[in-house]
Amino acid sequence: MSPIESVGIVGGGLMGSGIAEVSSRAGIPVTLVEISAEAADQAQSRIEGSLRRAEKRGKIEAAEVEDVLARISFTDALEQLAQCDLVVEAASENEQVKLDLFRRIGPMLEKEDAILASNTSSIPIVKLGAVSGRAGRVMGIHFFNPAPVMKLVELIPSLTTSPETKSRVATFVEDQLGKQAIEATDRAGFVVNSLLVPYLLSAIRMYEAGYASAEDIDHGMVLGCGHPMGPLALCDLIGLDTIRAIGASMYDEFKEPLYSPPPLLDRMVEAGLLGKKSAQGFYPYK
Ligand code: 3HC
Repeated sequence: MSPIESVGIVGGGLMGSGIAEVSSRAGIPVTLVEISAEAADQAQSRIEGSLRRAEKRGKIEAAEVEDVLARISFTDALEQLAQCDLVVEAASENEQVKLDLFRRIGPMLEKEDAILASNTSSIPIVKLGAVSGRAGRVMGIHFFNPAPVMKLVELIPSLTTSPETKSRVATFVEDQLGKQAIEATDRAGFVVNSLLVPYLLSAIRMYEAGYASAEDIDHGMVLGCGHPMGPLALCDLIGLDTIRAIGASMYDEFKEPLYSPPPLLDRMVEAGLLGKKSAQGFYPYK
């Protein structure tokens, strides 16, 4: 089984940029595709900012920052992915967008054993495999935000993923990237979001109902339960649009009311208050 020697990333948002950074830091050349040259530039600045922060904290040498950046090429042309060993789709959490990408990228990959993965946390992997024309070589690889810091990656083989694909991806994640993998079945939310999302949505409902201020809800969980950050600050970090999309997919799958996005979350997303990435969510950001 050959190691992954080139990685393609589709989408340079929070997750795509983070996965590109992690892969390049593991010494693997990365091609990051965005929808426009401007979006590709933004992804580049995001990665550079994260690396500079890591440098300031003594996690990486200045010279290595340059090497990591030099190993990533940024483009708006999907065809640049043709020669990759592994492509990780990290576009927005929207089923139609992902299906369209899998339909287009699947036939584009020139290597017979190339793997096409999704960083989705709630859209069925089996559906993405079915439209790609290479279902045996499609699976879910779900990273956590911020990807350079979070140790966990969820691996989600679907009913049609081949055992070779599964073990090649597990080796990539654990031996090449140095992350800890857990395996989950192809059900919306997998392990972590099935537990995390109802908690985050409950915090929003609590705030919406006026139980307590955002600060007090967050202090409650940080100081009372030892969480690294409170639920509303975490919503802002993940992005309120992403939380709403994940909750909606999980609700579609299970019809469990706790997964259903509360009205305040809908209104905030409609108003463009998306959290840290839009400089305003439950809290303001610079
Ligand atoms: N590379 C390497 N290390 C980095 C880094 C980078 N690019 N950026 C930061 N770090 C390191 C820092 O050096 C620091 O390490 P140290 O403690 O050894 O000095 C550590 O990461 C923490 O960084 P900061 O000190 O800058 O920040 P905080 O201490 O305030 O922690 C946080 C920030 C890591 C975000 C922390 O608050 C946390 O763990 N929050 C919870 C995040 C979480 O739950 N994520 C999962 C979200 S769910 C998800 O993503 C799934 C999706 O489907 C929704």
